[in-house]
Amino acid sequence: MKTTCFTCLESVTAVRRIERGLELELDPQLREFLRVEVIRNDIIRLKISRNRNFDEAPTYAVCAELKLEKPEFSTEEDDRLVRVRTARMTATIYKHPFRIEAHRADGSVILESYQDEEKRWWSYATLNDEFVVRRKCRPEDAFFGLGEKTGRFNRKGRNFTLWNTDVLDPSIAGGCQVHPTGDPATDPTSTEFDPYYISIPFFYHMPNMCDAMSGFFFDNGYRSRVEFEQSLEYLIHFEGGQYTEYIFAGPSMREILSSYTWLTGRMPPPPLWSLGYHQCRWFAYTQSAFERLAQNIRENNIPCDALWLDIDYMDGYRVFTWDKNRFPDPPAMLKRLCDQGFSVITIIDPGVKYEHGYAVFDEAVKRDVLCRTEGGTLYLGQVWPGKTAFPDFVSAEARKWWGELNADHVRSGLSGIWNDMNEPATGDIAYGAMRFDKGRFSHERYHNQYALLMAMGTVEGLLDAMPDKRTFVLSRAGSPGIQRYAANWLGDNVSRWDHLWMGIPMSLGLGISGQPFVGADIGGFMGNSSPELLARWFQCGSLAPFCRNHNNANQADQYPWAYGHTVQKLCRTSLELRYRLLPYIYSSFIKASETGSLVQKPLIFDYQSDQTTREIDDEYLFGDHLLVAPIYTQGCTSRQVYLPEGTWYHWHTDEKFSGRKFVVAPSPMDYIPLYARGGAVIPTWSRPPQSTMGYHAESITLHFFIPDADGEYPSMLHEDDGQTFAFRNGAFYRTEFRLRREGASITLQSSVSGNGYPEFARKRFLLIFHGPEFDRISINGHKAQFVDDVITLVNSGSDFYLEAELNSTKPAS
Ligand code: GLC
Repeated sequence: MKTTCFTCLESVTAVRRIERGLELELDPQLREFLRVEVIRNDIIRLKISRNRNFDEAPTYAVCAELKLEKPEFSTEEDDRLVRVRTARMTATIYKHPFRIEAHRADGSVILESYQDEEKRWWSYATLNDEFVVRRKCRPEDAFFGLGEKTGRFNRKGRNFTLWNTDVLDPSIAGGCQVHPTGDPATDPTSTEFDPYYISIPFFYHMPNMCDAMSGFFFDNGYRSRVEFEQSLEYLIHFEGGQYTEYIFAGPSMREILSSYTWLTGRMPPPPLWSLGYHQCRWFAYTQSAFERLAQNIRENNIPCDALWLDIDYMDGYRVFTWDKNRFPDPPAMLKRLCDQGFSVITIIDPGVKYEHGYAVFDEAVKRDVLCRTEGGTLYLGQVWPGKTAFPDFVSAEARKWWGELNADHVRSGLSGIWNDMNEPATGDIAYGAMRFDKGRFSHERYHNQYALLMAMGTVEGLLDAMPDKRTFVLSRAGSPGIQRYAANWLGDNVSRWDHLWMGIPMSLGLGISGQPFVGADIGGFMGNSSPELLARWFQCGSLAPFCRNHNNANQADQYPWAYGHTVQKLCRTSLELRYRLLPYIYSSFIKASETGSLVQKPLIFDYQSDQTTREIDDEYLFGDHLLVAPIYTQGCTSRQVYLPEGTWYHWHTDEKFSGRKFVVAPSPMDYIPLYARGGAVIPTWSRPPQSTMGYHAESITLHFFIPDADGEYPSMLHEDDGQTFAFRNGAFYRTEFRLRREGASITLQSSVSGNGYPEFARKRFLLIFHGPEFDRISINGHKAQFVDDVITLVNSGSDFYLEAELNSTKPAS
């Protein structure tokens, strides 16, 4: 973008110490302040005042109690510069001319301001309410993050707009249509279309030939542009709001993500049922048709936990109503579905039909909780119900009202809420006139945060009404912090092979931007799927954090049975694998909720020093120990898979591979390549249930994958009631496994914490070993017996210790 008219801040005129660092006065003319503040020893925050004022809460992203942190730091000053130094990083501000640098304690670069041909430094420049920051990079550097973006996982070489956009609405009154210049594509179905539904101004920079990364989070919700197109600089531009940036020292992606999610919050533990299979379709079901769907699912033995109702369940698209002709008795229907193990989720859009006499609208008017225009009238858009008003979620009162409505709505027996059109999408009517907080704030300030605020109201309302119940909300749009309240799906994708691939880097990008609970619509939303595409998509989607099949109205069916017996069998087998893996998947989610880690991980997350992993975005790690390589081209029956360092076992054939190389993996229609990491202990259910509801397994199978290399390998199984917050008071069992290999000797220490929970039913572990055979094996000092390659270990939540000696004369493969 052109920055010619921007004014660069040029010098530091005064410096004073403040509680967390330094405050500098900048520029004799503009006289703005820069605060350099230490948040923790790996996070420094920079902010620059506007008209000498600071906005102390620019967005709803940050939720960490910063005041509780008392990091140690020191400051230095001489004629040339000032410094703020922690044990892990240093921010250096040069005074004349003004420029910023940051380094890690070992001297490696975190950031350097860019100097243009006219020798101007672009640490910060303004024009009207806009600002721009330009920084140095090299042609071969890599950039990751920015949340939900199409295209390659490594963002280098492309420019991005951050502005929540309903991508498939042909009449969108903004986003891509108003600012087409420089966008990678203007076709909303392209795999490089930008902008998208979710905007997260947080990214990672990884210099070439270096395995250290740094992270940058701009706490600003305005429309912005991030340019990675140039070889020697990258640029961040915001159309409004204050410059507030959190700089993360890294050097690992894991540490940066952990710090970023400490700052902006982590996904809460999800209810177990939400990790099952979700069957969705935009279709005008009647109550009996919906129940027939449930019956079909059970008759076809498709494991499934959740059924979804799209907009047609409502009375004329009026939110929080039911169409009484189609659904004469929702509570009775929901009760019957619950008896068959189904949770039901309905869609709730933000648009409230403008109609006097409709209770939700009347109440909203009475409470004055709808968005207004500058002139003070109600803002009206046009969405499904026609003329539509929009809740003013910026006001706490509106969020509370919305929360109460949601709580009342789910009392009929619903289990979750689906938030759509929350970019906000306003159809044919331009959204710009929609203002917030009773008309006080511009649209631009809150547009990107609208979905976050909506989810906040929803979840707070549900928790107020049902404090014991974990919530499940799915949102289309989002901004930093959305992970605290909702999962995200990838919106309206297309039933095309390239969109099957696109979901991989997109989910990975969202994951490393703080949102681990993601998934694309299996089978594709728009257009018709094909038998092969649907089967391949099920194979991939069953190994994604959020697993939902969804399809547009007026399109060919894509239920698992839609393409006949063979495809149905493939879909069922994929889902059965997911259901068998649920103890592992659930443990991965719990870990992610505690540490801010991921469920679906790019290879680089675990293998940062391996340069090959930078460009790999057609495979991923699922949990800590599985590597998934989806098939995303038609007719493909083998593919190249990169296996990083270590030992890898093919899940379906047990064949063993040594990593740090590419292998060619056969991919018959029965499965996609899936590998388990050597050293892992992967807990599975011994048989896949049809639903997780009320399912408390008596036995858990533990798959041990023997590593080639000596060392210690951790794994974990977390078990709790899967529904409430009782785990916070110790109602869980957590089994930590430490597998050690030293030559031919294998030991495993399993240590249990937690006090258990009433539904706990496990009586035994079934142990299965993958890899070399054993000469002898004992558990808790007693010789153990294999029966049909399985050792049965009676265990209801106690520690155990295993010792084994590998048979050195008989390698497994
Ligand atoms: C939007 C959603 C889609 C939904 C449709 C009807 O296009 O993205 O998932 O089915 O609206 O509600």
